[in-house]
Amino acid sequence: MNILELKNLTKTFGGLTAVGNVDFEVPKDSISGLIGPNGAGKTTIFNLITGVYKVTGGKIIFKGQDITNMEPYKIAESGITRTFQNIRLFKKLTVYENVLTACHANANYNLLESVLRTPKCRKQEKELKEKADNLLEIMGLHDRKDMIANNLPYGLQRRLEIARALALNPELLLLDEPAAGMNPDETVQLMALIADIREKFNLTVLIIDHHMDLIMGICEKIMVLNFGCKLAEGTPQEIQNNPKVIEAYLGVEG
Ligand SMILES: Nc1ncnc2c1ncn2[C@@H]1O[C@H](COP(=O)(O)OP(=O)(O)OP(=O)(O)O)[C@@H](O)[C@H]1O
Ligand SMILES: [Mg+2]
Repeated sequence: MNILELKNLTKTFGGLTAVGNVDFEVPKDSISGLIGPNGAGKTTIFNLITGVYKVTGGKIIFKGQDITNMEPYKIAESGITRTFQNIRLFKKLTVYENVLTACHANANYNLLESVLRTPKCRKQEKELKEKADNLLEIMGLHDRKDMIANNLPYGLQRRLEIARALALNPELLLLDEPAAGMNPDETVQLMALIADIREKFNLTVLIIDHHMDLIMGICEKIMVLNFGCKLAEGTPQEIQNNPKVIEAYLGVEG
C-alpha cells in the first residue's frame, strides 16, 4: 500500500516550472529518497505536500485522501510533519523547551482549564513532559536538554528539528537534507537513528539529501528529479546503474 501518491504534480513560479508532471508513490512503512541536483525541485515538492505552496496542477493523495491545497495545519494534523533545509528552531529557547512547545501542539485542554490547573490539565502536562523527555532521550539530546538551542552544534540542531517533528505524532516524516553540514561519522549515526525512529514510531520516511552514502544505504525506493521532472525511480541499485542518472547527477556529484 502507498501512504503517499503524487499524481501529475506541477508547480510553476511565473515562467519557471519548478515541478513538472511528477508522479511518485511512497510505500507505507518505507524509507524513501528524493534526490537530484540543486534547484531540481525537491524542496518545492515538500512545500507542496505540506501545503506551504498551492499546487499549479495535479494531486497529492495521503492515506487515500486528497489533501491537495489543504491548509498546512490540517495536513500536519492528518499525519505529515517535516524538517526544514534551513533549520527552524526557537533559537533562544532551550533544547527541552523547543520539544515541549511542539508537544503542546497536541494538548487538548483550554486556557481556562490551564489557568485553573484542573486535574485533566495537570495530567496532560505531565504526559507531555514525559513525551518531551522521551523524545530527547531517543534523539540523543537528553544530556543537553538545558542548553540554548542556538548553542548546540549544527548536527545536533538538525536532530532537535527531527525531535520537534516527531512531537507532532507523524505517520509520514519528511526530512529535508537532515545530514547537511554533518561529518561522515555524524551522517552514519544519523542513518542508524532514522532507521531506529522508523521502527519505534511506525513511520514512513521521505528523505531529501545529497549524501549518496546515506540515501543509498537507507532508502528502499528512490526518485531522481532533474529540472523539475522525474528522471528515474527505483531501488538504490537501479538508480546507481541508471545511465541517465549517472549522467545528470551521480557523475558530477561523485
Ligand atoms: N518561492 C519561490 N519563488 C520562485 N521560485 C522558486 C520558489 N521556490 C523555489 N523556486 C525555484 O524553484 C526551483 C526549485 O527549487 P527547490 O528549492 O525546490 O530546489 P531543490 O531541489 O530543493 O534544490 P537544493 O538542492 O538546492 O535545495 C529553483 O529554480 C528555485 O529557484
Ligand atoms: Mg532544497
